[in-house]
Amino acid sequence: MSKKKFSVNGNFKDSINTVKLLTERKKFIGSAPAVLPTRTDDFGVNKVAKSLHPKEQKLVISRIEEHADIAKSYYFKSESAPLAYFKAGQYLTFRLEIGNSVVTRSYSIASSPASALNGEYQITVKRISDGFVSDYILDNWNVGDSVTAYAPEGNMTYNPLRDAGTIVAIAGGSGITPFLSLARAIDQGDEACSLTLLYGCRNSDEILFKSELDSLAEKNGKINVVYVLSHSDEEGYEKGFVGADVIRKYAPEGKYSIFVCGPGGLYKFLETELPKLGLEKKYIRFEVFSSGKKAEDPKKFSIKVINRGEETEIKANSNETVLCAFERAGIEVPARCHTGECGFCRSKLVSGKVYIPEGEDKRRIADMQFNFIHPCCCFPESDLVVRIN
Ligand code: FES
Repeated sequence: MSKKKFSVNGNFKDSINTVKLLTERKKFIGSAPAVLPTRTDDFGVNKVAKSLHPKEQKLVISRIEEHADIAKSYYFKSESAPLAYFKAGQYLTFRLEIGNSVVTRSYSIASSPASALNGEYQITVKRISDGFVSDYILDNWNVGDSVTAYAPEGNMTYNPLRDAGTIVAIAGGSGITPFLSLARAIDQGDEACSLTLLYGCRNSDEILFKSELDSLAEKNGKINVVYVLSHSDEEGYEKGFVGADVIRKYAPEGKYSIFVCGPGGLYKFLETELPKLGLEKKYIRFEVFSSGKKAEDPKKFSIKVINRGEETEIKANSNETVLCAFERAGIEVPARCHTGECGFCRSKLVSGKVYIPEGEDKRRIADMQFNFIHPCCCFPESDLVVRIN
């Protein structure tokens, strides 16, 4: 009698495997304790979520590096728990008490994501004129000091589903830090994109991290760095501003995404330059420090702040944001990005008029209709009444 050949097709194998899996799963569930943990903190998934998105992190300054007289890099270790992970391009928001004021400020993380896994963050703070918080940090933070930061946040990160394979990064001044992080991440194999960095400064003395950027570009073919000087004509540097012509000269053929980080003046300049490139909107992203409103003759106003039913009258002027007026008066408002994006500072404008610089109004349409504002990028134009929660 001839033997019949019996073959098992893929679907049948899948069914056998599924039965095996179900049996194992039943056994696993059966061996679990009969009583569920009562504290939600005890669930594994909650532990992971908490370590990735802690409400706040207690950090210690482990070292400080000076960059001539213009900036300092601060390195942090965690006081207890592991540092929250981040994507290159995100920022850390610090909470500081300065005199009677409680303020928050965000600084892009300069270190690579891998460094967070090794227990270190780096930020770089540049001295700016009238920099209420940056001056305080530069003059008061020392090695060994404890500081409070929230979890890393921010959307200027590379996403292969949304962005082109090459990022053309336009940095102005200390806006270099998120792109230093990205260059480091690319070099460490943690980001798959290429980077063309166009770094604008007034003169070559103001370039931060030049030797590291040069060596990353030299050893890694996916990184290209171009320095553009606006106030001096030096050999080996582009002269002028990072506008459409410079971008066309160095951007790759085909598709690329543009990321911008720098002061408000850079944004204003690019507002007329970027449309010349004809890129789709989704390929352009900004992380812009508030442009501020430098009125020739700042006017003084008052703001009635309603906070959980209590009313406080504070002073404000047309030159500083409503959030800044709150901070100076010691009124704490949740805030993270300070660029109008995150919505943490969202408050109700009960009455009065505010000015929002062009390009900084990132409110939802419903919020605009119902008079909610982001005080971090609003400037008073009259006396105001604002409810902050
Ligand atoms: S702090 Fe993010 S919107 Fe105001």
